[in-house]
Formats: sequence, structure tokens, C-alpha cells
Amino acid sequence: MERTFIAVKPDGVQRGLVGTILKKFEEKGYKLVGLKLLQVSQELAQTHYGEHKGKPFFDGLVKFITSGPVVAFVVEGNDVVVTARKMIGATKPSDSAIGTIRGDYGVDIGRNIIHGSDSPESAEREISLWFKPEELTEWTPTISTWIYE
Ligand code: RTP
Ligand code: MG
Repeated sequence: MERTFIAVKPDGVQRGLVGTILKKFEEKGYKLVGLKLLQVSQELAQTHYGEHKGKPFFDGLVKFITSGPVVAFVVEGNDVVVTARKMIGATKPSDSAIGTIRGDYGVDIGRNIIHGSDSPESAEREISLWFKPEELTEWTPTISTWIYE
């Protein structure tokens, strides 16, 4: 089983999309193993988006992600990293297919609602950056055998 890190960005929280987004991951069949709402610090934002340091959009991205509460969560399931990215859609909402989260709810690249880890390695790094081990819960949903063969 694989885990990935998802964050509803400040625009998604302000627009009341937290429930809608969580529902999509629940309905897909992924298991929620961690969930919290937090105000992101400068340090966390800069570390999380460290790969983009020096790019022209970096300062604006850090300012945006620290501008209001974020809902961070971890979901678990088979191939969840790549599938979550498909559910989220392309970085630029105008390139995102309708039916994806960014395709359905986003317009501007700088207000694209949601983050998802881009690889299993990024997922591991981001989960340990955002969550303490004791904030993640091991449990077995009673519907597991209706999701996995
Ligand atoms: P994210 O990390 O937020 O999930 O987004 P992503 O993988 O789809 O895209 P990434 O390349 O990691 O970029 C991170 C965020 O930076 C903003 N961005 N702006 N103006 C630009 O050219 C530009 N490029 C990226 C986006 O808000 C993107 O989500
Ligand atoms: Mg990214």
C-alpha cells in the first residue's frame, strides 16, 4: 500500500471545497490516515516548495500558501500517488480535464486549489514534513474487501 500527501490550499479552504475534495478521495476508495487544518509557517512553505526556490513564482507561491489555513491530509491505497495526481489534474487549470479537481474548480495557475505529491519519494518527504508519526492512524475500513480483491 502506498501513501500520498494532499493539501487543500488557502483558496480551496476559503471557497468551501474541503468537504467536496475529501469526499472525492473517500468515494474513490482511498483510506484517510491523517487530517488537519493548519496555518502554514514561512519555514514549512519554503521547505515544502524547496524545489522551486529561485523560480520567478516562488515568493508569490510561499505568500499564497501562508495566506490562510490549509487542510493537509494523507491517503493510502494502491497506486495512490499517481492516481491522486490524475484526480487533481494539470498544474494549469486551463490544461486540466473537466472532471478533475482543478479542471472543475480552478481558473488560474496561482489559485489551483489543491496540492498532491508528484512521486512516491516526494510523498514520503512531504508526509514526514507535515505530519508527526503519531498523527497518522493505522486502521482497517470495514469496506476494504469491497474495494480490494
Ligand atoms: P503543487 O506542487 O502545488 O501540487 O503543483 P504542481 O505539482 O502541479 O506544480 P509545480 O510545478 O510543483 O508548481 C507548484 C505551484 O507553483 C505554482 N506555479 N506557478 N506561474 C507559473 O509558471 C507557475 N508554475 C507553477 C502553481 O500554483 C503550482 O501549483
Ligand atoms: Mg508540485
